[in-house]
Amino acid sequence: MIVDNSEENIRRGAEIIKEGGLVAFPTETVYGLGGNSLDARSVAKIFEAKRRPSFDPLITHIADFEALDRLADIKDRRVYDVVEKLWPGALTIIVPKREIIPDLVTSGLDTMAIRMPDHPTALELIRLSTGAVAAPSANPFGYLSPTRAAHVEASLGDRIDLVLDGGECRVGVESTVLDMTRDIPTVLRPGGIDVETLRELLGDVDVLDRTSKTPKAPGQLPMHYSPRKALHIVNSPGDVPGDRLIRKQSAFLSFRGEGDLTSFGTVEVLSAKGDYLEAASRLFAALHRLDESGADVIYAEAVPSVGLGAAVMDRIYKASEK
Ligand code: TXA
Ligand code: MG
Repeated sequence: MIVDNSEENIRRGAEIIKEGGLVAFPTETVYGLGGNSLDARSVAKIFEAKRRPSFDPLITHIADFEALDRLADIKDRRVYDVVEKLWPGALTIIVPKREIIPDLVTSGLDTMAIRMPDHPTALELIRLSTGAVAAPSANPFGYLSPTRAAHVEASLGDRIDLVLDGGECRVGVESTVLDMTRDIPTVLRPGGIDVETLRELLGDVDVLDRTSKTPKAPGQLPMHYSPRKALHIVNSPGDVPGDRLIRKQSAFLSFRGEGDLTSFGTVEVLSAKGDYLEAASRLFAALHRLDESGADVIYAEAVPSVGLGAAVMDRIYKASEK
């Protein structure tokens, strides 16, 4: 439902986010599809609403500078130099995340994307809710990013609890994504703030060449988390080869906790209820725990490709590729 961005409606939106629901809101770049960044379940709802067949790391939107240090672990002074000049604004920075940010927000990465949008409605919504709103652009997978509330309502309206109308987005393109975890700050996605502006503040700034087919340059960080241990996909725990001793040295990622799991050294169950939303919200944290366990290898049970199960399965496939 579209409503105008009156104080009362923003308050209503903030309550919805606090309760784990989804609210589309205007920013100066494009409309965002917002949920509570501190709650993996509401973040899973964002992916469900976008009908994305895979998980992408999301931007956490904040409304004050204190939130930057509360959510991210910043050791690089240059970060403050740039955000103090350009926030609120169309710049997203990649910085190390703190524990408080669920793994689903960052697709398991130990870095996070964070930005303070330059729009009074967005800032008020963030401030009145949880101070940390995860939001991708409010378009279904494969569609253009929305710059008007009506775009959002037409494509996602039935899957969002509230659409706050703030008129047309002033900038109209997404924010620039700047990776501040590298020695030379690197633009991962060009956007509303140009690279010349960043160079004036930071000196050397690289721009990621997306067309390059060459293997990763040294020091270039992977864009997706992958477990270090080998991961094999099986249909059920019974399909894992080997004797009891080998199984003791193996970790098992189970969807619903079905079958005989007692022989495995470490077990993670994604959702005993078979709830895809819950499975999605627990996936990355479970993968991290299995990877850090004493097991030699991880076996992962195939998850049915239904709803969010498809995105979960996509991630398990990626984790199995080395
Ligand atoms: O203007 C914008 O940025 C809009 C408004 C709503 O703020 N949001 C937006 O979000 O465009 P989204 O999800 O469509 O794009 C986020 C981008 C993706 O390219 C994603 O890969 C990148 O940010 N990103 C997020 N976290 C990252 C991380 N830890 N490392 C590298 N890239 C990351
Ligand atoms: Mg997008």
